[in-house]
Amino acid sequence: MRIFLTGFMGAGKSYLGQELARLLGFGFIDLDTLIEAEEGKPISAIFAEKGEAKFREIERENLISLAGFSKVVVATGGGAPCYSNNMAWMNGHGVTVYLHAPVAILASRLKNEKEKRPLLSSLTDEALHNFIEGKINERKQFYEQSHLSFEVPENGLEGLEMLANYLRRFLQK
Ligand code: S3P
Repeated sequence: MRIFLTGFMGAGKSYLGQELARLLGFGFIDLDTLIEAEEGKPISAIFAEKGEAKFREIERENLISLAGFSKVVVATGGGAPCYSNNMAWMNGHGVTVYLHAPVAILASRLKNEKEKRPLLSSLTDEALHNFIEGKINERKQFYEQSHLSFEVPENGLEGLEMLANYLRRFLQK
């Protein structure tokens, strides 16, 4: 069984995903880290050298390669669910969980992390909030196809144990 975490940049997919994997006794895979290892360069360099369309192809190939793994929690990239029918693929190959967070929280977290993220790196702090809001409006139709939705805590791990217990029961069925 695979658990795919979906949601916007800054929602905590990697941080919460690692903790969730630990609680469930599952392995953890970060899709962006897998892509960087496969390509031998950071995501920002892939965008700069090959462009976003090529990145989305590479992202799709790496995502579907996860069919070979089980008992894993996967943190997907924020755009992954929104391209190439990836959401339907994930729903057919595991349990999907949308990590939902308010725009203000995402903006405050992403302010200091723009450089790593090619879609944000040229934005001023003022433009960031509007960008996030606009993109979430475009993308939520995909995120909301996830089987489950989880409201991320502002800090810490509140509620994660409950999610893990729920998933355990869900996986036993
Ligand atoms: C992207 C999100 C990033 C990464 C790439 C594109 C997006 O992942 O895949 O920069 O389109 O939202 P994180 O959500 O892990 O930051």
